[in-house]
Amino acid sequence: MQIQEKDVIELCKTIIHPASGKDIVSLGMVKDMHIDSKKISFNLNFPSVNDPLKSSIKKACEIKLKEKFSDRLEIEVGIEANINPVRPKTENEPLPGVKNILAVASGKGGVGKSTVATNLAIAFANTGARVGLIDADIFGPSIPKMLGLENQRPEVIRVEGKDMLVPIEKHRMKILSIGFFIDPQDATVWRGPMASNALKQLMNDTDWGELDYLFVDLPPGTSDIHLTLVQTVPVTGAIIVSTPQDVALADAIKGVNMFRNKAINVPVLGLVENMSWFTPAELPDHKYYIFGKEGGVKLAQQLQIPLLGQIPIVQSIREGSDNGTPAVIKNDIPGKVFRNIAEALRIEIIKRNANIEPTQKVEIAHQSGSELKNK
Ligand SMILES: Nc1ncnc2c1ncn2[C@@H]1O[C@H](COP(=O)(O)OP(=O)(O)OP(=O)(O)O)[C@@H](O)[C@H]1O
Ligand SMILES: [Mg+2]
Repeated sequence: MQIQEKDVIELCKTIIHPASGKDIVSLGMVKDMHIDSKKISFNLNFPSVNDPLKSSIKKACEIKLKEKFSDRLEIEVGIEANINPVRPKTENEPLPGVKNILAVASGKGGVGKSTVATNLAIAFANTGARVGLIDADIFGPSIPKMLGLENQRPEVIRVEGKDMLVPIEKHRMKILSIGFFIDPQDATVWRGPMASNALKQLMNDTDWGELDYLFVDLPPGTSDIHLTLVQTVPVTGAIIVSTPQDVALADAIKGVNMFRNKAINVPVLGLVENMSWFTPAELPDHKYYIFGKEGGVKLAQQLQIPLLGQIPIVQSIREGSDNGTPAVIKNDIPGKVFRNIAEALRIEIIKRNANIEPTQKVEIAHQSGSELKNK
């Protein structure tokens, strides 16, 4: 008796993708099935070319199929990679071509948000994904300097009768910063509404096209800019950056609570502990915990947020940020640290999209940032 497609599908439902905890059928990974008297073949569609579980899931399929059906039957399981992760869409989305919007935030200033946002965005772009990066630190834009893009002026084009900004392209990603339009020293005198409008323009009046990931580097704290962001677009998730220091951790909790506030409801995808320790070049086995030990690790456990990784204090990370060559582009240890964090984040995004409803844009009347702080 010929094997039916539904029997194979039932069997595949018992195979779980460990990153999301869901089976490969509900994740929509089983495609192009073909069955005849000698052979069962189908493709496994992975959301990323770099999915570390590709071969183990393929193997699991082959073993289970042989076990259940005859081991004389030829089994052919192909692997396809779809670098465009699926995100369910909400109606009337403001940026319909953008699949995932990721906010990089912290409570305290100077903990490394812009460094983390820039390096993660480049790591994602280098896996072949289509990536955008917005510097939403309207009062202190630093991304033009970090990417060696000072004095750049984005073009304006006319699309369907509307003026649209064209992002600057570098390191295979599309970049916009308020720093491209103003002298950074002038931004500090901006009033709230001006800053909010500027951010809306960077999001809505820009020709972002199709993007898999749009990273948004936020200013420190829980400001009006944060509120403008969640009111302007549905944010897929937030990444919190903190040093292990007590004052930074206390502020990081405020940042997490803001995203988790019922009215905002943006999932926190992970915590990055930055400046975790310092190792001098001449003493490679020593770790000096300048800002305290594992404060971020413990906070992640306490708040039940995945720890995406720890980044040591490394002179070349600071130098790379100052001279427009972010650490992740190098094939050394700091570069690898950022690539590993990007991979951990990518898995958290897959889990989030498989398990949690799409984020809704926040529809509330304008409030001041202080009212946003979690009650
Ligand atoms: N792991 C690290 N090792 C060495 N230097 C670092 C590291 N992380 C960040 N820095 C440096 O620390 C400074 C602050 O980093 P960054 O600008 O990324 O912080 P931020 O949180 O975005 O700051 P702000 O709150 O002002 O936006 C920068 O000079 C950066 O190069
Ligand atoms: Mg910054």
